[in-house]
Amino acid sequence: MTKLNLLYASEMGTAMEVADNVSEIAKNKSIDVDQAELNDVSMDDLLTMNKVLIVTSTTGDGDLPMMGEMFWEELSKAEIDLKNIEYSVCALGDSSHFHFCGAGKKVDEKLEELGAKKILERHECDGDTEGYEEWAAISLEKLGF
Ligand SMILES: Cc1cc2nc3c(=O)[nH]c(=O)nc-3n(C[C@H](O)[C@H](O)[C@H](O)COP(=O)(O)O)c2cc1C
Repeated sequence: MTKLNLLYASEMGTAMEVADNVSEIAKNKSIDVDQAELNDVSMDDLLTMNKVLIVTSTTGDGDLPMMGEMFWEELSKAEIDLKNIEYSVCALGDSSHFHFCGAGKKVDEKLEELGAKKILERHECDGDTEGYEEWAAISLEKLGF
């Protein structure tokens, strides 16, 4: 059975907690979950993935958390074909910042630009984590799990 690649980046722990909970939701559906920090994912790794969920918060001024900085550095300049990926993004942020959910937004836009298929619109959390469970449930269904 195809596995789920659950990729995350968090600065203060909230997005990590969300990723852990999404992993539990998936495992309760007997899905084979491979959970990893974004920085542990190379572009070669990405090319082997099919079903991907990404959970990331935003730090600085619309930036990826430290555990996703290296990934973004690679992805932002990548010229690879990600047509084999189906994905969705859960972005955590706070609308008091100018670049609301900037990290999730730029990763989402770049994946789409590289040919990955977005199976569900990005879910944006504003100052909390509301709605991520529904996002996870619908995403898993649309990914065919
Ligand atoms: C120093 C700092 C910078 C932030 N910058 C942004 C930002 O540019 N855009 C945004 O939407 N949220 C921003 N946030 C809000 C966080 O993304 C939000 O609180 C999130 O839930 C934190 O998740 P985490 O605990 O996984 O890092 C910032 C928070 C901090 C502490």
